[in-house]
Amino acid sequence: MSQEREELLKLLSDEELDLFILTGGIDIADQMRENVIGITKIPIGVAENFVINGKSAIIPIATEEKSVIMQASIGAGLVPEGFKAATSGNTMIGQIQVLDVPDLDAAEDAILAEKEALLVDANTISRTRKAVDLQVKRLDTAVGKMLIVEIFADVRDSMGANLIDSMCELLAPTIARITGGRTLLRILSNLATRRTVNVTARVPVNSIGERVVDNIIAADAFAWADPYRASTSNKGVMNGVIGVLLATSNDTRAVEAGAHSYASISGSYRPLTKWIKDENGDLVGTLEMPMGIGTVGGVIQSHELANVVLRLMNVETASDLAMIVGSVGLASNLGALYIMVTEGIKSIQA
Ligand code: MEV
Repeated sequence: MSQEREELLKLLSDEELDLFILTGGIDIADQMRENVIGITKIPIGVAENFVINGKSAIIPIATEEKSVIMQASIGAGLVPEGFKAATSGNTMIGQIQVLDVPDLDAAEDAILAEKEALLVDANTISRTRKAVDLQVKRLDTAVGKMLIVEIFADVRDSMGANLIDSMCELLAPTIARITGGRTLLRILSNLATRRTVNVTARVPVNSIGERVVDNIIAADAFAWADPYRASTSNKGVMNGVIGVLLATSNDTRAVEAGAHSYASISGSYRPLTKWIKDENGDLVGTLEMPMGIGTVGGVIQSHELANVVLRLMNVETASDLAMIVGSVGLASNLGALYIMVTEGIKSIQA
């Protein structure tokens, strides 16, 4: 048994351990979701070697795929100083679609003139999580021109979908009235460009050798030049990202959608990670991706296992969790690249 696994098990009470190993609770599951007939079983393992922003971290990863936990652990083991991670904030974006606007210029002016009043209205929904900005954009679409009103809110430690959807629905009638148009969709965007995580990692050249550094850079260049390879590279990133999100009962589809739309934001599908050589010849990697996740609200609060996992990881805020998830994403990418340019992937899947 690895040291991490032994240490993690020591941190659990008997009741908490039961949450990991018993898969009962069909009655609770039934209250949570519609037409429940069972509960799927996905193993949760613990990744090794992680140091994030100077602190060693326990990383539970839920995955059905052999070698995902090993890829993350190998990647983390190559980064002696650990991962440096930061987030850009907790702002999520909601969109209100406005159709059949008689005068687009006048409608846009009217919305901007009412901006402060609209924000005050939106902020009647939550005492602590506040709308901070509102913008308007025009789209020329297959069914004609339309206005899109975007509302930006600081959702703090929640994922934010409920809050944002409520704000959009609340504002829609006023927006329809002042634009003379009709509102249709009123919904969160999963492309959370104002809620990103940034991670960097350095692999000393004297630990892996110049040849491996150059080969990892060549493998990364392949991904930057070819969407077929970028897709697989990002799949390797998402192995770790989704594994931690699943273990914490976060909405994995939301992050997956945000990740891939962010990867294509330039117009071409690109990797979420980048590897370069620094002036000392060391390998330096970065990851940047949207991370619209929460540590409170939604299903997380009612999910006992997710709460134990968050406690084990010492996570208090959504930003703490985002920095861990981003680091595991970069480690997974690094571990996969290292194995592929040395032994080959089958060496750890046997
Ligand atoms: C397999 O789950 C993930 C990899 O394909 C990632 C990659 O190719 O970078 C090994």
